[in-house]
Amino acid sequence: MSALSELYQEIAICQRCELAKYRTKVVPGEGAEEADIMFIGEAPGWHEDQQGRPFVGPAGQYLDQLLASINLNRKQVYIANVIKCRPQGNRDPLPSEILSCRQWLERQIELIHPRMIVTLGRYSMAMFFPKKSISKIHGSAEKRDNVIYYAMYHPAAALHQQSLRRAIEEDMLKIPALLAQAESVAEAKRQPEQLTMFEV
Ligand code: URA
Repeated sequence: MSALSELYQEIAICQRCELAKYRTKVVPGEGAEEADIMFIGEAPGWHEDQQGRPFVGPAGQYLDQLLASINLNRKQVYIANVIKCRPQGNRDPLPSEILSCRQWLERQIELIHPRMIVTLGRYSMAMFFPKKSISKIHGSAEKRDNVIYYAMYHPAAALHQQSLRRAIEEDMLKIPALLAQAESVAEAKRQPEQLTMFEV
């Protein structure tokens, strides 16, 4: 069994926060174990909770279209969320839930070892770009320890707002060139709070 499958088994029995009581299925994440690009969303919604798979509802169908626009499909990338269980009624995740769940995402990143991490929406962005505003930094890349970090709007938000839709589609189209020219992306100094603070 792969290390990632073993991790899924651990996540499946996680009881670290209250969300465990209400979930139908845990949604650990899915995709290529050797993916170059890892997309990180917020939390499972109703469809994801039913199926145990990330981004399978309307936002997921839109994400599939966005991936197709750069000739990729979901089997060629890795897709995960900040939170692995659905918050009831699709409410925003609590800071305590994000903290409880953080270790799973960190271990996924370690195992996948992607060349590029794309954050989808502000909760995911807040983990990697603390105190930044998505309207300011979406579509711009930063490299730390040879990994490119790139913030995008959440596909669900973009689905319903025309201006964000244009932005997310343009931002997606920049990804192939960023990966191809990774060495030209400026290396940023790691801020002490990155990946350790959750001011969301
Ligand atoms: N929105 C997310 O952030 N993640 C999902 O898996 C589905 C919708």
